[in-house]
Amino acid sequence: MPGTFDWRQEREGAGVRLAVLGHPIAHSLSPAMHAAALKAANIEGEYKAFDVVPEEFDACIAHLRGMGYRGVNATAPLKTACAEAADALDETVLLLGAANTLIFGGQVRAANTDVEGFLAPLKSLAKGSALVIGAGGAASAACFGLKREGWKVQIWNRTFKRAEQLAERIGAWAMKTLSFSGADLIVNATPVASFEMNWEAVRTSAIVYDLAYGAGPTKLLMEAAERGLRTIDGREMLVEQGARAFELWTGVWPDVGAMREAVGLRYSAGL
Ligand SMILES: NC(=O)c1ccc[n+]([C@@H]2O[C@H](COP(=O)([O-])OP(=O)(O)OC[C@H]3O[C@@H](n4cnc5c(N)ncnc54)[C@H](OP(=O)(O)O)[C@@H]3O)[C@@H](O)[C@H]2O)c1
Repeated sequence: MPGTFDWRQEREGAGVRLAVLGHPIAHSLSPAMHAAALKAANIEGEYKAFDVVPEEFDACIAHLRGMGYRGVNATAPLKTACAEAADALDETVLLLGAANTLIFGGQVRAANTDVEGFLAPLKSLAKGSALVIGAGGAASAACFGLKREGWKVQIWNRTFKRAEQLAERIGAWAMKTLSFSGADLIVNATPVASFEMNWEAVRTSAIVYDLAYGAGPTKLLMEAAERGLRTIDGREMLVEQGARAFELWTGVWPDVGAMREAVGLRYSAGL
């Protein structure tokens, strides 16, 4: 698979060695983003992508640790396994039961930088009413962060039961029928590129935040922008969660501008 490596082939090496694990993982922008951060910080190292299924996760972690890796990111479907693999958990991992970052050392520490990464582009906004579409890992991080920051959170998901379970866990509302009216912020936390949007019902002041991302703005964001709505690209979250993970591994706050450029984001969200 282009851009991915076989973790079993890894051997000891020099520098700060990092990786992202997931399944699938070939689409990941993280290797390019972290390579740019390492280069800008003048740190010798590398960041690879490994395709890892959940059953192999523990063996993969043990192997990479043994080969001197500094840490890893984990993405779907490995975030629960990531939390379970650690000896020490940060507060967010304890609450969500999901982690996206492992820091290796005498102990394996798990962190969840998704929540702060998700919230970073929203910092300057007044708290209002948020609609989160989805009830998986990304939606959990988004709902948890929004709730903590004082937003009113409503959740809609294809499988209602999962929306209900998430809503119950964080103290939000689960919607049976998708309704956009009243939402100041609409978050797509599914991989669906284009779902039935009732744009007529969306407030003209609403902000559309698509956590799914590609090399450019997604179809959802382009449709929202065509209607004059403000948008936030999922790559904003990607960079912000990545910057926090980079700092945990290296002790250095990275050059976020270099990371943004590596994922094709040239301008700030400007909200
Ligand atoms: N920007 C970032 O930094 C960042 C970080 C994390 C994730 N993401 C992105 O967020 C998206 C979700 O990731 P995740 O980790 O939350 O995945 P996940 O845990 O597997 O959850 C997937 C969610 O999408 C829903 N879904 C999947 N296919 C669907 C379809 N065809 N129609 C309607 N709903 C569908 C699922 O609904 P059911 O419950 O009904 O299956 C579930 O709510 C992905 O695109 C991922 O790349 C972005």
